Amino acid sequence: MKVGLTGANGYIGQNINHALRLMGVEVIAIDRHLLYGHHLKLAKELANTHTIINLAGAPILKRWTKKNKTIIYNSRVSTTRNLCKAINALPREKRPTNFISASAIGIYRPAIRHDETSSKYANHFAARVIDDWEDTLAELPDTVRKTIFRIGVVLGKDSQFIQQVLPVFKLGLGGKLGSGSQAFPFIHIDDLVSAFTQAITDDSFFGIYNLVAPQQINNKDLTKALGKQLNRPTLIPVPGFLLHFIFGQASTLILENPVVIPRRLKNKGFNFQHPTIENCLENILSNN
Ligand SMILES: NC(=O)c1ccc[n+]([C@@H]2O[C@H](COP(=O)([O-])OP(=O)(O)OC[C@H]3O[C@@H](n4cnc5c(N)ncnc54)[C@H](OP(=O)(O)O)[C@@H]3O)[C@@H](O)[C@H]2O)c1
Repeated sequence: MKVGLTGANGYIGQNINHALRLMGVEVIAIDRHLLYGHHLKLAKELANTHTIINLAGAPILKRWTKKNKTIIYNSRVSTTRNLCKAINALPREKRPTNFISASAIGIYRPAIRHDETSSKYANHFAARVIDDWEDTLAELPDTVRKTIFRIGVVLGKDSQFIQQVLPVFKLGLGGKLGSGSQAFPFIHIDDLVSAFTQAITDDSFFGIYNLVAPQQINNKDLTKALGKQLNRPTLIPVPGFLLHFIFGQASTLILENPVVIPRRLKNKGFNFQHPTIENCLENILSNN
């Protein structure tokens, strides 16, 4: 089986790539330049693939300047649109039959609970990008099965979040972010990889799935769990105004989060290997 992967050099891409190769799947890492190039050249690369996994996207947690907004938007929406155009250009027998795309829980309105039926979306730049990103998949042929994973904060030994907070917490300088009452929807990288790889072969996957752990915690709970696991104090909070000063409007992605329920994965009987923050951190911090 041949799988085309965009964003292959990123954190999630590398982990999915590794898992697929272990499963004996041939992975085609789709070069970033092809995503912005002529759709017929891109189509050649996609010909005869079984599945496309779409992860490409420039970092969203940076100041939302006009220039950054254009990069963030185009890296998701324009590239996905080009993928759809390329797939449409292929003769039916050479088209992938399956398209799995990353999305993000940032689409949801903060501070309230959402399962996949929720249409209460946030009213900020990131949510509008995510909404357009998902909508673009409607341009795919009807014969292509479409799965969208709305991903929470990914936790793993080498994930960006863990790499950024761990040194601070290890020094005993960690603490809650802002009020600490904002939700912290998380997912362990192993569970994420497992959901993506299952969606390749399991035809019952289609539509939108919240890809978060079943346990709902807030930032204060995360802080406490990290402190306990590392046996360090967590008394130094990071004030909201400081995060706002650093990230501008994008600080909303840290200071205001939705509560997210993985209803469809739970209904499916998906086996979360790391369903709680304690399981996750224990796994990540062992041998660290
Ligand atoms: N990690 C998380 O916590 C999280 C949570 C929710 C959603 N997501 C989404 O999941 C996807 C993968 O996340 P990740 O953590 O693996 O991110 P990452 O490590 O930052 O990798 C993203 C990949 O996107 C590609 N990319 C970067 N800038 C680009 C641009 N301007 N145009 C086109 N492609 C560009 C790069 O791929 P190449 O270098 O291979 O070209 C990069 O490796 C992203 O779309 C992200 O928004 C991630």
